[in-house]
Amino acid sequence: YFYTSQAASPVYSQVGSDDEYADIDWDAMEFGLTPTDYMYTTKCTQQEDGFPQGQLNRYGNLELSPAAGVLNYGQGIFEGMKAIRREDGQIVLFRPEQNALRMKVGADRMCMPSPSVTQFLDAVKQTALANKRWIPPPGKGSLYMRPMLLGTGPILGLGPAPEYTFLVYASPVRNYFKEGSAPLSLYVEQEFDRASRGGTGGIKTISNYGPALRPLMKAKTKGFSDVLYLDSVNGKYVEEVSSCNIFMVKENTISTPPINGTILPGVTRKSIIEIARDLGYNVEERPIPVEELLEADEVFGTGTAVVVASVGSITYHSQRVEYRTGDNSVSKRLMSTYNGIQNGVMEDNKGWMVEI
Ligand code: COI
Repeated sequence: YFYTSQAASPVYSQVGSDDEYADIDWDAMEFGLTPTDYMYTTKCTQQEDGFPQGQLNRYGNLELSPAAGVLNYGQGIFEGMKAIRREDGQIVLFRPEQNALRMKVGADRMCMPSPSVTQFLDAVKQTALANKRWIPPPGKGSLYMRPMLLGTGPILGLGPAPEYTFLVYASPVRNYFKEGSAPLSLYVEQEFDRASRGGTGGIKTISNYGPALRPLMKAKTKGFSDVLYLDSVNGKYVEEVSSCNIFMVKENTISTPPINGTILPGVTRKSIIEIARDLGYNVEERPIPVEELLEADEVFGTGTAVVVASVGSITYHSQRVEYRTGDNSVSKRLMSTYNGIQNGVMEDNKGWMVEI
C-alpha cells in the first residue's frame, strides 16, 4: 500500500550525491519546506513486535488508504530535530535520544508501536547523511529532521490502526520567525485553549497543532508573531506559545512553567534550564500567573525550530508590556552558549552532541 510516487524502488547503495552542496541560495532560506533527496521509511502491523529495519527511498509522496487511522482519527505524532554542519565539516545532532524517548512516550499515549531508541537514532542519522548536500554551510542554518509515526492502516470504527509507518524526512531551514532575530510580539490568547488536564498537550501529537491554527492566524492578522496560551482551568497561568516553550527572567531568577501534562517537554527547554543553572542563574519550574509575566524584566521562548527567541512585547487584554532584549539580555547569553555547544565553539561537557 505504500510507495513513493517519484521513485518506488528502495535505494540500497549510492545514497547521496558527490556534490558537496545542493544548488540553492542558503541566504534566502526561511523556515519552510525545501524537498530533499531521500526519506527513511519502515512499517509494521499492530500485532508485530516493533518495526523491522527501514530503508531510504527517494523523497516523495505517500500513498495511503482514505481510511488510514492518521487521516480519520489523527493517530500520529512527530518530532523535530536538527543536523548541523560545523566549521571542521563534522555533522552533529543535538541530544537525539531525547527525541527518541519523547516519541516512545507519545506513541504509548496514542496506542501506537514505536521504534526503539537505537532504531530512531539510526533512521535519523541515515536520513541526515543521505541528504548531506542539503545540510547548510556552517552558520547558514540547519537540516531540520521530521521523524513521524503514523497510523497508516485503514480503520473505520474508532480504534488503533492495523498498520503503522515510521518515517523521517528532512528540509534545510533557517529562522523560524520571519522577523529573523528581531524580538517577538506575543498576544495572550483568551478565547481558545491549547491543552487541558488529561489531554495530549504533553506529547507531540499532530492533533495538537491543527486547532492552534485559528488562534495563530487571528494573532498574525493583528500583527503579532505568535500566541501565548494560558491554562484551561483557571485562564490564569502561562503555558506555552504555539511553537515553543516560554521563560521569564526577573533579576537573577529564570522561571518557566512546570511539565505537568499540558506543556510540551521541549528538549531545548530542558537544555536551557541546565545551561542557565551552569551560568549561575536560579531556575524555577513553577506555575506563573500571567500578571507576573507582565512584571518580568525579560521573556523568551525556546524550541528546536525557534531556538531561543527573545520576546519584545506581550499584549494582554489591551495592555502591551515591553521587555529587555538585545546584546545585554539573558536570552542572548543563553543562546550563545547553546549555539556555541552545538557548533563546537564551546565545550560540550554534558555529552549532548552526537557526531554522525
Ligand atoms: C519544533 O520546534 O521542532 C516544532 O516542532 C515546532 C513546530 C511548530 C515547528
